[in-house]
Amino acid sequence: MNNIEQLFQKILQDKRPENLYNPISYILMQSGKRLRPQLVYIAAEMFNGDPEQVKHIAAAFEMLHNFTLIHDDIMDKADVRRGQPTVYKKWNGNIAILAGDALAVIAMQQLLKLQCDPKTILDLIDIFGRTALEVCEGQQYDLDFETMDEVSLDEYLNMIRLKTSVMFAGCLKAGGRFAGADEESLQALYDLGIHLGIAFQIADDLLDVYAEEEVFGKAVGGDIKDNKKTFLLLKALELADESQKQELHRLFTTPATDEKAKFLAVKSIFDAVHAKEATEKEIARYTEKCIDDINRIHTEKEKKAFVLSLVHRLQSRDK
Ligand code: IPE
Ligand code: IPE
Ligand code: MG
Ligand code: MG
Ligand code: MG
Repeated sequence: MNNIEQLFQKILQDKRPENLYNPISYILMQSGKRLRPQLVYIAAEMFNGDPEQVKHIAAAFEMLHNFTLIHDDIMDKADVRRGQPTVYKKWNGNIAILAGDALAVIAMQQLLKLQCDPKTILDLIDIFGRTALEVCEGQQYDLDFETMDEVSLDEYLNMIRLKTSVMFAGCLKAGGRFAGADEESLQALYDLGIHLGIAFQIADDLLDVYAEEEVFGKAVGGDIKDNKKTFLLLKALELADESQKQELHRLFTTPATDEKAKFLAVKSIFDAVHAKEATEKEIARYTEKCIDDINRIHTEKEKKAFVLSLVHRLQSRDK
């Protein structure tokens, strides 16, 4: 992963104006988990892709991810990410919008650095472009749902497939495509990304209520404050009795005068209906689907060990 840090430094060196590039350096040099580049490398390694080349794809997706985070924090009014002030808080909204825009373009440009046949580059740009657009679609659903009274679990799953999973799927498919994987393996890699992403976002929803802030690096309770339709909430509504349901409905539709009190009231209903346990079960169910997808990839067993351990590690993550 060292490789992509060096690449980021090289890309940003001596760039002006500082107010455009400093926020970009700031977010790229933070200690994110770097999951998306790991997925690109893992898929490429399964089919013997050259890591020196693959780093451009890995960097492209990590930059795309960081672009979405800069804008997501504006949309979600989030003050802290990775334990540090968010870009729009440290600078301002206009700077954050522009830094995000520029980062998305720099990300795409990395794909043009690849030394390979033009068809491969076109396919990668296609995967990358689709991913970026679908994330925007998911993010819009996420915002739309804030003010919708009724959101079904299917609508929620579609929303998180778009805002989160397609990026995981795109990383795995792009890594595999660059390295010359066969069509069945590419489909399995894509499906793996979708299922892993869904498990990952459901866990993110869970952590948004139950994590240790210092470890999580983000403020706990942000989703409840924004009236986000999370898995935890939808599950709680399913498990709740009539009075708990009405109370949740009231809490999520009336403007809160005391955010802390709202958070505690919502959390106490989540606890009462055991929404956390039901959510953990769902994460386990999607993790199982990941294992099936991994079995469908046409590569040696030893090459699957790393992705298997990553999938298991993410199931019980605390950040
Ligand atoms: C945050 O992703 C956005 C979500 C999809 C929940 P990560 O949790 O992978 O963020 P970093 O890159 O590790 O900070
Ligand atoms: C993640 O949704 C989706 C994207 C960033 C595209 P969240 O809004 O839950 O992500 P965090 O919790 O802010 O990282
Ligand atoms: Mg969001
Ligand atoms: Mg957010
Ligand atoms: Mg979240």
